[in-house]
Amino acid sequence: AGNWVRVASVDDVEEGAAIPVETMGLQLAVYRLQGGQICVTDNICTHAFALLTDGWFENGVIECALHAGQFDVRTGKGLCAPIEEDLRTYKVRVEDGEILIELP
Ligand code: FES
Repeated sequence: AGNWVRVASVDDVEEGAAIPVETMGLQLAVYRLQGGQICVTDNICTHAFALLTDGWFENGVIECALHAGQFDVRTGKGLCAPIEEDLRTYKVRVEDGEILIELP
């Protein structure tokens, strides 16, 4: 079993929004989908150096601001060119309004 680490409060993220979080040397993106589901991925695009939270988030898909690559934030799957590598996602748990992720 891994370690569960707090990354943000649910209240820090508006529904339909994504925020950057830096913790334990990781650059993370924390998403709150319409309907309330929380997802966490790496925040650095797998194509080149860009922060995904500088891009556009809609319907569970984040679009990179640099070359318009897209990822499904629930699975990390790259959805279109120029993305060739999927995004790392993290297991999420919400406890007392706090968002936790599992680190190996
Ligand atoms: Fe994200 Fe190129 S850096 S698509």
